[in-house]
Amino acid sequence: MLKNKVNTAARPKRLPRYTSYPTALEFGPMDGSKNDEWFKSLPICEPVSLYFHIPYCDKLCWFCGCFTTISNKYEPVQKFLEVLKNEIKQTAKKTGRLKVSHIHFGGGSPSILEPDDFLSLIDVLKECYDISDAKEFAVEIDPRTVDQEKIKAYASAGVNRASLGIQDFNIKTQEAINRIQSEELIEEVMGYLRDSGIERINFDLIYGLPYQTIETITETVAKTLAFKPSRIALFGYAHVPHMKKHQQLVGKHSLPEQKHRQAQFEWASKMLKESGYRSIGLDHFALPDDQLFVSYDNGKLKRNFQGYTDDAADSLIGFGPSAISSLPDGYSQNIPSIKEYVEKVTGGASPVVRGLAIDGHDKMFRDVISTLMCYFEVDPVKVAMEHGIHYNFDKEIDDLSKLVDADYMVRDGNSFRITESGKPFLRAIATIFDQYFDQNSSDIIDRCIHESEG
Ligand SMILES: C[S@@+](CC[C@H](N)C(=O)[O-])C[C@H]1O[C@@H](n2cnc3c(N)ncnc32)[C@H](O)[C@@H]1O
Ligand code: SF4
Repeated sequence: MLKNKVNTAARPKRLPRYTSYPTALEFGPMDGSKNDEWFKSLPICEPVSLYFHIPYCDKLCWFCGCFTTISNKYEPVQKFLEVLKNEIKQTAKKTGRLKVSHIHFGGGSPSILEPDDFLSLIDVLKECYDISDAKEFAVEIDPRTVDQEKIKAYASAGVNRASLGIQDFNIKTQEAINRIQSEELIEEVMGYLRDSGIERINFDLIYGLPYQTIETITETVAKTLAFKPSRIALFGYAHVPHMKKHQQLVGKHSLPEQKHRQAQFEWASKMLKESGYRSIGLDHFALPDDQLFVSYDNGKLKRNFQGYTDDAADSLIGFGPSAISSLPDGYSQNIPSIKEYVEKVTGGASPVVRGLAIDGHDKMFRDVISTLMCYFEVDPVKVAMEHGIHYNFDKEIDDLSKLVDADYMVRDGNSFRITESGKPFLRAIATIFDQYFDQNSSDIIDRCIHESEG
Protein backbone atom coordinates (compact mmCIF):
# COMPACT_ATOMS: atom_id res chain seq x y z
CA MET A 1 0.00 0.00 0.00
CA LEU A 2 1.05 3.53 -0.78
CA LYS A 3 4.65 2.51 -1.43
CA ASN A 4 4.76 4.26 -4.73
CA LYS A 5 3.54 7.81 -4.92
CA VAL A 6 6.46 8.83 -7.05
CA ASN A 7 5.78 10.77 -10.23
CA THR A 8 8.17 9.99 -13.03
CA ALA A 9 9.32 13.56 -13.66
CA ALA A 10 13.10 13.95 -13.47
CA ARG A 11 14.34 14.24 -9.91
CA PRO A 12 16.12 17.47 -8.92
CA LYS A 13 19.92 17.38 -8.63
CA ARG A 14 19.76 18.82 -5.11
CA LEU A 15 18.15 16.78 -2.40
CA PRO A 16 15.07 18.35 -0.76
CA ARG A 17 15.53 20.39 2.41
CA TYR A 18 12.15 19.11 3.64
CA THR A 19 10.82 22.48 4.77
CA SER A 20 7.56 20.66 4.03
CA TYR A 21 6.59 17.08 3.32
CA PRO A 22 5.53 16.32 0.67
CA THR A 23 7.86 18.96 -0.77
CA ALA A 24 6.67 21.78 -3.05
CA LEU A 25 8.15 19.81 -5.98
CA GLU A 26 5.17 17.47 -5.72
CA PHE A 27 2.54 20.22 -5.97
CA GLY A 28 0.36 20.09 -9.07
CA PRO A 29 -2.22 22.45 -10.58
CA MET A 30 -4.97 23.19 -8.07
CA ASP A 31 -8.22 25.00 -8.33
CA GLY A 32 -8.73 27.93 -5.92
CA SER A 33 -12.16 26.57 -4.97
CA LYS A 34 -10.54 23.51 -3.38
CA ASN A 35 -8.41 25.78 -1.26
CA ASP A 36 -11.47 27.88 -0.38
CA GLU A 37 -13.10 24.73 1.04
CA TRP A 38 -9.97 24.14 3.15
CA PHE A 39 -10.05 27.74 4.40
CA LYS A 40 -13.74 27.46 5.28
CA SER A 41 -13.22 24.28 7.27
CA LEU A 42 -10.47 25.68 9.53
CA PRO A 43 -11.66 25.28 13.13
CA ILE A 44 -12.65 28.69 14.51
CA CYS A 45 -11.26 27.94 17.98
CA GLU A 46 -7.72 27.00 16.87
CA PRO A 47 -5.01 29.62 16.29
CA VAL A 48 -3.34 29.79 12.89
CA SER A 49 -0.06 31.31 11.76
CA LEU A 50 0.29 33.85 8.99
CA TYR A 51 3.04 34.38 6.42
CA PHE A 52 3.23 37.49 4.22
CA HIS A 53 5.47 37.49 1.17
CA ILE A 54 6.72 40.95 0.12
CA PRO A 55 8.29 40.23 -3.27
CA TYR A 56 10.35 43.41 -3.70
CA CYS A 57 13.94 44.48 -3.10
CA ASP A 58 15.93 47.64 -3.81
CA LYS A 59 18.94 45.97 -5.36
CA LEU A 60 19.74 42.51 -6.66
CA CYS A 61 22.11 40.35 -4.63
CA TRP A 62 23.73 38.04 -7.18
CA PHE A 63 23.58 35.01 -4.91
CA CYS A 64 19.86 35.41 -4.23
CA GLY A 65 17.68 32.33 -4.50
CA CYS A 66 14.53 33.99 -3.13
CA PHE A 67 11.43 34.92 -5.07
CA THR A 68 11.77 38.68 -5.50
CA THR A 69 11.68 41.58 -7.99
CA ILE A 70 13.94 44.60 -8.05
CA SER A 71 12.01 47.85 -8.10
CA ASN A 72 13.73 51.20 -8.43
CA LYS A 73 10.45 52.96 -7.72
CA TYR A 74 8.26 52.68 -4.64
CA GLU A 75 4.95 53.15 -6.45
CA PRO A 76 4.58 49.48 -7.58
CA VAL A 77 5.23 48.38 -4.00
CA GLN A 78 2.43 50.62 -2.73
CA LYS A 79 0.05 49.33 -5.38
CA PHE A 80 0.96 45.78 -4.47
CA LEU A 81 0.22 46.50 -0.81
CA GLU A 82 -3.35 47.51 -1.63
CA VAL A 83 -3.82 44.16 -3.38
CA LEU A 84 -2.27 42.31 -0.47
CA LYS A 85 -4.77 44.04 1.86
CA ASN A 86 -7.56 42.80 -0.42
CA GLU A 87 -6.21 39.25 -0.28
CA ILE A 88 -6.24 39.44 3.54
CA LYS A 89 -9.86 40.68 3.55
CA GLN A 90 -10.99 38.09 1.00
CA THR A 91 -9.28 35.27 2.90
CA ALA A 92 -10.72 36.35 6.25
CA LYS A 93 -14.21 36.16 4.76
CA LYS A 94 -13.57 32.46 4.18
CA THR A 95 -11.66 31.59 7.35
CA GLY A 96 -13.44 33.85 9.84
CA ARG A 97 -11.55 36.10 12.25
CA LEU A 98 -9.18 33.50 13.62
CA LYS A 99 -6.73 33.90 16.48
CA VAL A 100 -3.13 34.13 15.34
CA SER A 101 -0.15 32.37 16.89
CA HIS A 102 2.85 33.46 14.75
CA ILE A 103 3.22 36.17 12.10
CA HIS A 104 6.12 36.23 9.68
CA PHE A 105 6.91 38.88 7.06
CA GLY A 106 9.37 37.48 4.51
CA GLY A 107 10.40 38.06 0.96
CA GLY A 108 12.07 39.75 -0.80
CA SER A 109 12.57 42.51 1.70
CA PRO A 110 9.64 43.53 3.91
CA SER A 111 11.91 46.31 5.20
CA ILE A 112 11.33 48.07 1.86
CA LEU A 113 7.90 49.14 3.18
CA GLU A 114 7.59 52.70 4.45
CA PRO A 115 6.47 52.97 8.11
CA ASP A 116 2.96 54.32 7.35
CA ASP A 117 2.38 51.64 4.72
CA PHE A 118 3.49 48.88 7.06
CA LEU A 119 1.23 50.22 9.82
CA SER A 120 -1.79 50.55 7.54
CA LEU A 121 -1.27 46.93 6.42
CA ILE A 122 -1.20 45.88 10.09
CA ASP A 123 -4.45 47.83 10.69
CA VAL A 124 -6.14 45.71 8.00
CA LEU A 125 -4.60 42.58 9.46
CA LYS A 126 -5.99 43.46 12.91
CA GLU A 127 -9.47 44.02 11.51
CA CYS A 128 -9.43 40.62 9.84
CA TYR A 129 -7.55 38.45 12.35
CA ASP A 130 -7.10 38.51 16.12
CA ILE A 131 -3.37 39.06 16.56
CA SER A 132 -3.61 40.24 20.16
CA ASP A 133 -2.15 37.01 21.57
CA ALA A 134 0.42 36.35 18.83
CA LYS A 135 3.48 34.79 20.45
CA GLU A 136 5.79 35.85 17.70
CA PHE A 137 5.71 38.62 15.11
CA ALA A 138 8.82 38.46 12.94
CA VAL A 139 10.06 40.64 10.09
CA GLU A 140 12.92 39.90 7.70
CA ILE A 141 15.12 42.95 7.34
CA ASP A 142 17.64 43.91 4.70
CA PRO A 143 19.81 46.17 6.90
CA ARG A 144 20.48 48.46 3.93
CA THR A 145 16.80 49.35 3.56
CA VAL A 146 15.79 49.91 7.17
CA ASP A 147 16.00 53.02 9.37
CA GLN A 148 14.98 54.11 12.84
CA GLU A 149 11.48 55.22 11.79
CA LYS A 150 10.73 51.83 10.24
CA ILE A 151 11.96 50.02 13.33
CA LYS A 152 9.83 52.23 15.57
CA ALA A 153 6.85 51.34 13.38
CA TYR A 154 7.63 47.60 13.75
CA ALA A 155 7.79 47.95 17.54
CA SER A 156 4.52 49.87 17.70
CA ALA A 157 2.84 47.19 15.56
CA GLY A 158 3.99 44.46 17.98
CA VAL A 159 6.97 43.03 16.07
CA ASN A 160 9.12 41.11 18.55
CA ARG A 161 11.62 39.33 16.23
CA ALA A 162 13.84 40.77 13.54
CA SER A 163 15.78 38.64 11.11
CA LEU A 164 18.75 40.42 9.56
CA GLY A 165 20.29 39.33 6.28
CA ILE A 166 24.01 39.55 7.08
CA GLN A 167 25.47 36.84 4.77
CA ASP A 168 29.18 37.74 5.28
CA PHE A 169 31.20 40.65 6.67
CA ASN A 170 34.14 40.26 4.26
CA ILE A 171 34.30 43.05 1.68
CA LYS A 172 35.78 40.88 -1.11
CA THR A 173 32.93 38.40 -0.73
CA GLN A 174 30.39 41.23 -0.44
CA GLU A 175 31.65 42.74 -3.71
CA ALA A 176 31.49 39.36 -5.44
CA ILE A 177 27.81 38.95 -4.49
CA ASN A 178 26.83 42.59 -5.07
CA ARG A 179 25.83 43.12 -1.48
CA ILE A 180 27.92 45.67 0.33
CA GLN A 181 26.97 46.44 3.91
CA SER A 182 29.35 47.63 6.59
CA GLU A 183 29.69 46.47 10.15
CA GLU A 184 28.85 50.03 11.23
CA LEU A 185 25.50 49.74 9.47
CA ILE A 186 24.71 46.53 11.34
CA GLU A 187 25.76 48.17 14.61
CA GLU A 188 23.40 51.06 13.94
CA VAL A 189 20.46 48.77 13.04
CA MET A 190 21.07 46.59 16.11
CA GLY A 191 21.06 49.74 18.25
CA TYR A 192 17.69 50.84 16.82
CA LEU A 193 16.21 47.37 17.32
CA ARG A 194 17.33 47.03 20.91
CA ASP A 195 16.32 50.65 21.73
CA SER A 196 12.85 49.78 20.41
CA GLY A 197 12.67 46.72 22.64
CA ILE A 198 13.03 44.18 19.80
CA GLU A 199 15.42 41.78 21.51
CA ARG A 200 14.84 38.56 19.58
CA ILE A 201 17.29 38.86 16.71
CA ASN A 202 18.28 36.41 13.98
CA PHE A 203 21.32 36.73 11.76
CA ASP A 204 21.36 34.98 8.38
CA LEU A 205 24.88 33.92 7.43
CA ILE A 206 25.96 31.98 4.34
CA TYR A 207 28.98 29.73 3.78
CA GLY A 208 30.22 28.54 0.38
CA LEU A 209 30.12 32.10 -1.04
CA PRO A 210 32.81 33.48 -3.37
CA TYR A 211 36.28 33.88 -1.89
CA GLN A 212 35.25 32.60 1.53
CA THR A 213 37.98 30.75 3.42
CA ILE A 214 38.29 29.46 6.96
CA GLU A 215 40.04 32.76 7.81
CA THR A 216 37.23 34.96 6.43
CA ILE A 217 34.54 32.76 8.00
CA THR A 218 36.37 33.01 11.35
CA GLU A 219 36.25 36.80 11.05
CA THR A 220 32.57 36.86 10.06
CA VAL A 221 31.59 34.54 12.92
CA ALA A 222 33.68 36.55 15.41
CA LYS A 223 31.95 39.77 14.30
CA THR A 224 28.57 38.04 14.52
CA LEU A 225 29.31 36.84 18.06
CA ALA A 226 30.05 40.40 19.15
CA PHE A 227 26.41 41.29 18.31
CA LYS A 228 25.02 38.30 20.29
CA PRO A 229 21.99 37.57 18.06
CA SER A 230 19.73 35.08 19.86
CA ARG A 231 19.48 32.92 16.75
CA ILE A 232 21.71 32.34 13.72
CA ALA A 233 20.89 30.60 10.46
CA LEU A 234 24.03 29.34 8.70
CA PHE A 235 22.91 28.47 5.18
CA GLY A 236 25.02 26.73 2.54
CA TYR A 237 25.07 28.84 -0.62
CA ALA A 238 22.74 27.21 -3.14
CA HIS A 239 24.23 27.94 -6.57
CA VAL A 240 21.54 27.11 -9.12
CA PRO A 241 22.26 29.38 -12.14
CA HIS A 242 20.06 27.17 -14.37
CA MET A 243 17.10 28.23 -12.20
CA LYS A 244 18.26 31.68 -11.06
CA LYS A 245 19.93 33.20 -14.13
CA HIS A 246 21.40 36.17 -12.24
CA GLN A 247 23.56 33.75 -10.23
CA GLN A 248 25.70 33.51 -13.39
CA LEU A 249 27.06 36.86 -12.20
CA VAL A 250 28.63 34.97 -9.29
CA GLY A 251 31.94 33.86 -10.79
CA LYS A 252 32.00 30.06 -10.61
CA HIS A 253 35.80 30.08 -10.26
CA SER A 254 35.46 32.11 -7.05
CA LEU A 255 33.30 29.50 -5.29
CA PRO A 256 34.94 27.27 -2.68
CA GLU A 257 35.18 23.56 -3.50
CA GLN A 258 32.76 21.20 -1.75
CA LYS A 259 35.37 19.94 0.73
CA HIS A 260 36.15 23.55 1.69
CA ARG A 261 32.43 24.37 2.01
CA GLN A 262 32.04 21.50 4.45
CA ALA A 263 35.10 22.63 6.41
CA GLN A 264 33.69 26.18 6.56
CA PHE A 265 30.40 24.92 7.96
CA GLU A 266 32.12 22.72 10.52
CA TRP A 267 34.47 25.47 11.62
CA ALA A 268 31.71 28.10 11.96
CA SER A 269 29.56 25.57 13.77
CA LYS A 270 32.39 24.80 16.22
CA MET A 271 32.94 28.50 16.92
CA LEU A 272 29.23 29.06 17.56
CA LYS A 273 28.89 26.03 19.83
CA GLU A 274 31.96 27.05 21.83
CA SER A 275 30.33 30.45 22.35
CA GLY A 276 27.17 29.02 23.91
CA TYR A 277 24.96 28.45 20.87
CA ARG A 278 23.22 25.12 20.45
CA SER A 279 23.21 23.63 17.00
CA ILE A 280 19.60 23.05 15.91
CA GLY A 281 18.91 20.75 12.97
CA LEU A 282 20.51 21.32 9.59
CA ASP A 283 21.60 24.93 9.80
CA HIS A 284 20.31 26.83 12.85
CA PHE A 285 21.99 27.90 16.10
CA ALA A 286 20.31 29.36 19.17
CA LEU A 287 21.23 30.79 22.57
CA PRO A 288 19.61 29.22 25.66
CA ASP A 289 17.04 32.05 26.02
CA ASP A 290 15.84 31.68 22.43
CA GLN A 291 12.46 29.99 21.77
CA LEU A 292 14.04 27.50 19.34
CA PHE A 293 16.39 26.28 22.08
CA VAL A 294 13.50 25.93 24.54
CA SER A 295 11.20 24.16 22.10
CA TYR A 296 14.04 21.80 21.10
CA ASP A 297 14.36 20.81 24.78
CA ASN A 298 10.60 20.32 25.07
CA GLY A 299 10.51 18.06 22.02
CA LYS A 300 8.28 20.63 20.26
CA LEU A 301 10.62 21.79 17.52
CA LYS A 302 9.09 21.68 14.03
CA ARG A 303 10.11 22.21 10.45
CA ASN A 304 8.43 24.93 8.39
CA PHE A 305 9.03 26.98 5.24
CA GLN A 306 11.36 29.34 7.12
CA GLY A 307 13.45 26.39 8.36
CA TYR A 308 12.86 25.55 12.02
CA THR A 309 10.13 26.87 14.31
CA ASP A 310 8.64 26.65 17.77
CA ASP A 311 5.24 27.51 16.28
CA ALA A 312 2.65 25.07 17.60
CA ALA A 313 -0.16 26.06 15.19
CA ASP A 314 -1.38 23.29 12.86
CA SER A 315 -2.20 25.69 10.03
CA LEU A 316 -0.25 28.37 8.25
CA ILE A 317 -1.92 30.76 5.82
CA GLY A 318 0.35 32.32 3.20
CA PHE A 319 -0.38 35.70 1.59
CA GLY A 320 1.27 37.31 -1.43
CA PRO A 321 2.71 35.94 -4.67
CA SER A 322 4.29 32.47 -4.37
CA ALA A 323 3.25 32.16 -0.69
CA ILE A 324 2.38 28.65 0.47
CA SER A 325 -0.36 27.71 2.93
CA SER A 326 -0.04 24.55 5.00
CA LEU A 327 -3.52 23.43 6.03
CA PRO A 328 -4.85 20.29 7.75
CA ASP A 329 -5.96 18.84 4.40
CA GLY A 330 -3.02 19.87 2.26
CA TYR A 331 -0.78 22.55 0.81
CA SER A 332 -1.74 25.37 -1.53
CA GLN A 333 0.44 27.92 -3.27
CA ASN A 334 -0.34 31.34 -4.70
CA ILE A 335 0.64 32.21 -8.23
CA PRO A 336 4.26 33.49 -8.28
CA SER A 337 3.85 36.17 -10.97
CA ILE A 338 3.09 39.52 -9.29
CA LYS A 339 1.12 40.66 -12.36
CA GLU A 340 -1.12 37.60 -12.38
CA TYR A 341 -1.47 37.68 -8.60
CA VAL A 342 -2.69 41.30 -8.83
CA GLU A 343 -5.13 40.42 -11.62
CA LYS A 344 -6.59 37.48 -9.74
CA VAL A 345 -7.01 39.19 -6.38
CA THR A 346 -8.31 42.40 -7.94
CA GLY A 347 -10.88 40.35 -9.87
CA GLY A 348 -12.01 38.75 -6.59
CA ALA A 349 -10.57 35.33 -7.52
CA SER A 350 -8.39 33.09 -5.37
CA PRO A 351 -4.67 33.52 -6.22
CA VAL A 352 -4.08 29.81 -5.48
CA VAL A 353 -2.88 27.84 -8.52
CA ARG A 354 -0.92 24.86 -7.20
CA GLY A 355 -1.13 22.52 -4.29
CA LEU A 356 -1.49 19.02 -3.01
CA ALA A 357 -4.08 17.26 -0.87
CA ILE A 358 -2.53 15.09 1.84
CA ASP A 359 -3.81 12.00 3.60
CA GLY A 360 -3.13 10.31 6.93
CA HIS A 361 -0.06 8.48 5.61
CA ASP A 362 1.44 11.73 4.32
CA LYS A 363 0.95 13.25 7.77
CA MET A 364 2.61 10.27 9.40
CA PHE A 365 5.63 10.42 7.04
CA ARG A 366 5.73 14.19 7.51
CA ASP A 367 6.16 13.65 11.26
CA VAL A 368 8.82 11.00 10.71
CA ILE A 369 10.82 13.27 8.37
CA SER A 370 10.31 16.37 10.53
CA THR A 371 11.51 14.50 13.65
CA LEU A 372 14.60 13.35 11.78
CA MET A 373 15.29 16.85 10.41
CA CYS A 374 14.86 18.43 13.88
CA TYR A 375 16.40 15.83 16.20
CA PHE A 376 18.65 13.65 13.97
CA GLU A 377 16.81 10.61 15.28
CA VAL A 378 13.49 8.90 14.88
CA ASP A 379 11.52 5.86 15.90
CA PRO A 380 9.28 5.45 12.83
CA VAL A 381 7.20 2.68 14.40
CA LYS A 382 6.36 4.90 17.38
CA VAL A 383 5.40 7.81 15.12
CA ALA A 384 3.15 5.53 13.05
CA MET A 385 1.47 4.27 16.23
CA GLU A 386 0.87 7.87 17.38
CA HIS A 387 -0.95 8.36 14.07
CA GLY A 388 -2.94 5.19 14.61
CA ILE A 389 -1.32 3.63 11.54
CA HIS A 390 0.04 0.10 11.32
CA TYR A 391 2.83 0.35 8.76
CA ASN A 392 5.47 -2.13 7.66
CA PHE A 393 8.80 -0.27 7.63
CA ASP A 394 10.89 -3.25 6.38
CA LYS A 395 12.18 -1.47 3.28
CA GLU A 396 13.02 1.71 5.22
CA ILE A 397 14.70 -0.28 7.99
CA ASP A 398 16.79 -2.10 5.35
CA ASP A 399 18.15 1.25 4.18
CA LEU A 400 18.64 2.52 7.72
CA SER A 401 20.60 -0.66 8.53
CA LYS A 402 22.99 0.08 5.63
CA LEU A 403 23.62 3.43 7.27
CA VAL A 404 24.22 1.72 10.61
CA ASP A 405 26.84 -0.49 8.88
CA ALA A 406 28.44 2.66 7.43
CA ASP A 407 28.57 4.21 10.95
CA TYR A 408 26.26 7.01 9.85
CA MET A 409 23.55 5.86 12.24
CA VAL A 410 23.15 3.84 15.43
CA ARG A 411 20.17 1.68 16.24
CA ASP A 412 18.44 1.19 19.58
CA GLY A 413 15.37 -1.04 19.14
CA ASN A 414 13.26 0.69 16.50
CA SER A 415 14.93 4.02 17.11
CA PHE A 416 17.62 5.25 14.71
CA ARG A 417 19.98 8.11 15.55
CA ILE A 418 22.31 9.85 13.10
CA THR A 419 25.94 9.88 14.28
CA GLU A 420 28.34 12.85 13.93
CA SER A 421 29.78 11.28 10.76
CA GLY A 422 26.26 10.82 9.36
CA LYS A 423 25.10 14.41 10.07
CA PRO A 424 26.28 15.85 6.72
CA PHE A 425 23.87 13.37 5.05
CA LEU A 426 20.70 14.40 6.89
CA ARG A 427 18.74 15.24 3.73
CA ALA A 428 19.78 12.05 1.95
CA ILE A 429 18.78 10.03 5.03
CA ALA A 430 15.37 11.74 5.14
CA THR A 431 14.68 10.62 1.54
CA ILE A 432 14.33 7.07 2.90
CA PHE A 433 10.90 8.04 4.21
CA ASP A 434 9.88 10.19 1.24
CA GLN A 435 7.12 8.26 -0.54
CA TYR A 436 7.37 10.60 -3.55
CA PHE A 437 11.13 10.12 -3.99
CA ASP A 438 12.15 7.58 -6.60
CA GLN A 439 13.72 5.06 -4.21
CA ASN A 440 14.99 2.99 -7.14
CA SER A 441 16.89 5.91 -8.66
CA SER A 442 19.92 5.34 -6.42
CA ASP A 443 21.11 3.35 -3.45
CA ILE A 444 20.94 5.17 -0.08
CA ILE A 445 24.76 5.21 0.21
CA ASP A 446 24.99 6.77 -3.30
CA ARG A 447 22.51 9.42 -2.19
CA CYS A 448 24.76 10.24 0.78
CA ILE A 449 27.76 10.52 -1.57
CA HIS A 450 25.67 12.75 -3.84
CA GLU A 451 24.81 15.02 -0.88
CA SER A 452 28.47 15.24 0.16
CA GLU A 453 29.31 16.40 -3.37
CA GLY A 454 26.90 19.33 -3.02
C1 LIG B 1 14.48 36.93 2.00
S1 LIG B 1 16.16 36.96 2.42
C2 LIG B 1 16.25 37.88 3.94
C3 LIG B 1 15.78 39.31 3.97
C4 LIG B 1 16.43 40.29 3.04
N1 LIG B 1 15.91 40.14 1.73
C5 LIG B 1 17.92 40.21 3.05
O1 LIG B 1 18.48 39.60 2.15
O2 LIG B 1 18.53 40.78 3.95
C6 LIG B 1 16.30 35.33 3.08
C7 LIG B 1 17.68 34.76 3.30
O3 LIG B 1 17.86 33.67 2.42
C8 LIG B 1 19.24 33.42 2.28
N2 LIG B 1 19.52 33.12 0.87
C9 LIG B 1 19.08 33.79 -0.21
N3 LIG B 1 19.56 33.21 -1.33
C10 LIG B 1 20.30 32.15 -0.94
C11 LIG B 1 21.04 31.15 -1.64
N4 LIG B 1 21.14 31.14 -2.97
N5 LIG B 1 21.66 30.20 -0.92
C12 LIG B 1 21.57 30.18 0.44
N6 LIG B 1 20.90 31.11 1.14
C13 LIG B 1 20.28 32.08 0.46
C14 LIG B 1 19.99 34.66 2.75
O4 LIG B 1 20.73 34.34 3.90
C15 LIG B 1 18.88 35.64 3.05
O5 LIG B 1 19.18 36.44 4.15
S1 SF4 C 1 19.09 38.27 -0.66
FE1 SF4 C 1 17.41 39.46 0.20
S2 SF4 C 1 17.90 41.61 -0.39
FE2 SF4 C 1 19.15 40.32 -1.66
S3 SF4 C 1 17.93 40.13 -3.54
FE3 SF4 C 1 17.51 38.33 -2.24
S4 SF4 C 1 15.70 38.83 -1.10
FE4 SF4 C 1 16.54 40.76 -1.93
